[in-house]
Amino acid sequence: MPTPPRVLFAAAEAQPLVKTGGLGDVCGSLPGALRRAGVDARLILPAYPAAIAGLPDLRTVAALRVAGHHGPVTIRLGRLGGVPVYLVDAPEAFDRPGGPYADFSGRDWADNARRFATFARAVVRVALGRADVAWRADVVHAHDWHTGLVPALLAREPRRPATVFTIHNLAYQGLFEQGALGELGLPRDLWSLDGLEFHGRLSFMKGGLAFADRVTAVSPTYAVEICTPQAGCGLDGLLRHRRERLAGILNGIDVDAWDPARDPALVRPFDARALEGKAENKRALQRALGLVEDARAPLLAFVGRLVEQKGVDLLLGSLPALLRSQAQVVVHGTGDARLADALRAAQAAAPGRVAAVVGYSEDLAHQVLAGADVCLMPSRFEPCGLVQLYALRYGAVPVVRRTGGLADTVVDPDDAGARRATGFSFREATPDGLLEAVSRALRARATSGWTDLVAEGMRQDHSWARSAREYSRLYGLALGRPAPRTVRAPRAPQAWSRSLRRQVALASA
Ligand code: ADP
Ligand code: GLC
Repeated sequence: MPTPPRVLFAAAEAQPLVKTGGLGDVCGSLPGALRRAGVDARLILPAYPAAIAGLPDLRTVAALRVAGHHGPVTIRLGRLGGVPVYLVDAPEAFDRPGGPYADFSGRDWADNARRFATFARAVVRVALGRADVAWRADVVHAHDWHTGLVPALLAREPRRPATVFTIHNLAYQGLFEQGALGELGLPRDLWSLDGLEFHGRLSFMKGGLAFADRVTAVSPTYAVEICTPQAGCGLDGLLRHRRERLAGILNGIDVDAWDPARDPALVRPFDARALEGKAENKRALQRALGLVEDARAPLLAFVGRLVEQKGVDLLLGSLPALLRSQAQVVVHGTGDARLADALRAAQAAAPGRVAAVVGYSEDLAHQVLAGADVCLMPSRFEPCGLVQLYALRYGAVPVVRRTGGLADTVVDPDDAGARRATGFSFREATPDGLLEAVSRALRARATSGWTDLVAEGMRQDHSWARSAREYSRLYGLALGRPAPRTVRAPRAPQAWSRSLRRQVALASA
């Protein structure tokens, strides 16, 4: 038996310790799935106060000095479920109230470049076995711009682990002024077009894209889209150049944390065979949010960050028409203050029909999806999207824009072919596009086929097992050890389906 690869999973957030969005969900649950798939995965995170508080059995494994960082850096080791977790304890960088990237008012921390450079250098030390003498990595799997310097710094090490970099969202690139390079003590030769320079600024994201042995995106369609100028955020040229090294691997979900049959946040559990429980959750939600308690009124819900990416403005634009039907609309999210104000105003203008709950609550996110008939995701772009996967499992039929991971996970009856439909999708990023798909959903809801549609979505398997196998195979490729044939190949761009190629052609037309 070959020894399992040792994989260091480096990220800025992981549920349940710290989460601002889907990155936290993925990094909180994929390492456990990898361990179940036979990978010796360990997680490394910044030691935010919440991470320290969430890992009671921490012990110190090393005290380091890190270039570019003034204070002490301690590496501590604990366990989250079955997963060993290293925390990079650099109090100057991470011991402060607020979020992982921004203060309570949403303003980015002014020293983010330094904070995540310190983190990256500590990750490198742990990966090389220079912190915990008992463990070194064969592969470092780094996620999003916060860890982009890790592949760039490791590329300079003569005896280094292989590197995999996953793009969760190309729109957030970690761009800083050129001077940051010197301030962070980064090697001068990294400042080049083949390196970290991006239009005169320092790009952490480019460190991952240019230097990692393998790059992945969180869905096959997004892997294709980011190679086009429309979705490439200025990095499509580099991604096309590295196309042979780029693959799309669809995210999974934690089916224990999101299980309507055993969810402690719900007023009553339910599953695909017993949907009465869902009706009770709907009634409870309507009551709690001050909506008219009406079982027949279609309850449409949006859960997510209130940002342009998510198409909240499209939802706002479609509200007057939506409210001409019997529909009720719930929005639960946090983000852009102007969008939040517009949603509050929409609630004030249609009391009992619209509820805008601005804020962050994990329980409420579960309750909204359990109570909703339809989940709206009119995203302008969506690298993968997890909310539609949770919605499927909670019997809230997704209505999504056909982009990124939404296109890969929601099957519209019009494009179903031999597959079974699970939701509705639209192409045009306009309120009318959204309205057209919602009206098809509402017509379907009035038919006897609706329960089958709901049940089909609930029965689908979006657990991590398959993606974990795909990552495991990719680690083998990164190490130059192809996995045995029994493991399914990831859907790499070389294997793009004809329809995806057509989509790229359309997108770049
Ligand atoms: P993204 O990562 O772009 O925000 P995803 O769909 O991948 O989108 O993941 C969003 C995650 O964040 C989901 O777990 C969702 O439930 C959660 N989430 C988003 N907004 C909120 C909120 N206001 N309260 C609680 N959970 C939220
Ligand atoms: C990003 C993307 C989202 C994806 C998540 C997890 O935040 O916006 O689409 O699901 O990462 O990969």
